[in-house]
Amino acid sequence: MEEMTEKNLKDAFAGESQAHMKYMSFADQAAREKLANVARFFRAASYSEQMHATNHLRALSGVGKTGQNLEAALGGETFEITTMYPEYVALAGQQGEKKAQDSMEDALAAEKVHAAIYTRAKEAVAGGKDVELGKVWVCEHCGYTMEGEPPDRCPVCNTPKNRFREF
Ligand SMILES: [Fe+2]
Ligand SMILES: [Fe+2]
Repeated sequence: MEEMTEKNLKDAFAGESQAHMKYMSFADQAAREKLANVARFFRAASYSEQMHATNHLRALSGVGKTGQNLEAALGGETFEITTMYPEYVALAGQQGEKKAQDSMEDALAAEKVHAAIYTRAKEAVAGGKDVELGKVWVCEHCGYTMEGEPPDRCPVCNTPKNRFREF
């Protein structure tokens, strides 16, 4: 692909991905303010931006076979665990940015679980099989991810068990 078009498409992918997430958060806020139609339209627009992001990623040949995708996912998580979040968390701590530090520490805890399961999945798929996987739970508050049965409270943010979503 031509270099400038590739860069534009990558930027558009990043922008649309962020709009998708922002509109989901804005929809939740509108719902809390009892503005049902505003919430509904934020959800519709969010879904539309998700389609744009997905199509841009496909145009960038960013979706491969699952073996490659697991490799890409593991690469991203590994960077976040070993480099990005430790550096960002340390700096936020030094600068006294408590909210940023907490949010990034919470993400780091979940990324470690993601990386471990991606590693298992990558090995299974390389061997021609699906991965053995129990029930997966994600904390609705902090995103902590776990396999098996959820504990009474989230080990990261202390949210009670009934606020874990099963996958
Ligand atoms: Fe992750
Ligand atoms: Fe949590």
